[in-house]
Amino acid sequence: MVSSLDGFIAKNDNSVSWLDSPGPVYEAGISVSQEEAAAFVKTIDCYVLGSRTYEHALELGWPYGDTPTVVLTGRKLSSTRKTVEFYSGDLTTLVDAELAPRYRNIWLVGGAMLCRRFLELGLVDEIKLTIAPVLLGEGLRLFGGSLTEERWNLKNVVAYKNGFVELSYSGTSA
Ligand SMILES: NC(=O)c1ccc[n+]([C@@H]2O[C@H](COP(=O)([O-])OP(=O)(O)OC[C@H]3O[C@@H](n4cnc5c(N)ncnc54)[C@H](OP(=O)(O)O)[C@@H]3O)[C@@H](O)[C@H]2O)c1
Repeated sequence: MVSSLDGFIAKNDNSVSWLDSPGPVYEAGISVSQEEAAAFVKTIDCYVLGSRTYEHALELGWPYGDTPTVVLTGRKLSSTRKTVEFYSGDLTTLVDAELAPRYRNIWLVGGAMLCRRFLELGLVDEIKLTIAPVLLGEGLRLFGGSLTEERWNLKNVVAYKNGFVELSYSGTSA
C-alpha cells in the first residue's frame, strides 16, 4: 500500500494526484525503469481487492492487466473482465482453499477495510508499505480502525529518487 506521511491511503474525495511523483528530489535514491517495474508486476500471480478499491480502479483505468483478480463483495457487481472473479464470505477459506492451491504470490491490493481484516485473521505474511512524501491531513486511515499490537520484522528498505520510500516487513512467524 501507499500511505501519506500522516498515515492515510486515500483522500476523502478519492483524488490521487497526491501520488504523483514530485520528480527527482533525493539524489541518493534509486529509480526503476519501466522494464524493471513490468518484470516485478509479472511476479504477481493473483490480485485481491475490496469492492471499493475495485470500483475506484475501474474509474482510474484498470491497472491489473490480465492477471487473475478476486474482488470481495457482498453485492452483485457486474463483471467487466474475464480475469475478475467475485467472492463473498470467509477470508481464511478464500486464501487457504481457493487461492493458495492455485497461486504462489498473492498480492492484497487493499483497501483499508480488507487489509485490516486480512491482518486480524493472520492471513498476511509480508507487508510492503510505501510512504509518499506528503501530509494529507485527513482521509482513509491505513488499515482502517484499530488493530492489536503485533511486531513485524523489517526485511528491506528502498528509497527512490522521487522521495518515496518502500518498507518491506515479514510477520514474526514467517
Ligand atoms: N494507497 C493505496 O495503496 C491504496 C490501496 C488500495 C486501495 N486504496 C484506496 O482505498 C479506498 C477503498 O478502501 P476501503 O477500505 O474503503 O474499501 P475496500 O477495502 O476496498 O472494500 C471494502 C469492501 O470489500 C467488501 N468486503 C470486505 N470483506 C468482505 C468479505 N469477507 N466478503 C465479502 N465482501 C467483503 C465489502 O464490499 P461490499 O460493500 O460490496 O459488500 C466492503 O464494503 C479507495 O479509495 C482506494 O483507491 C488505496
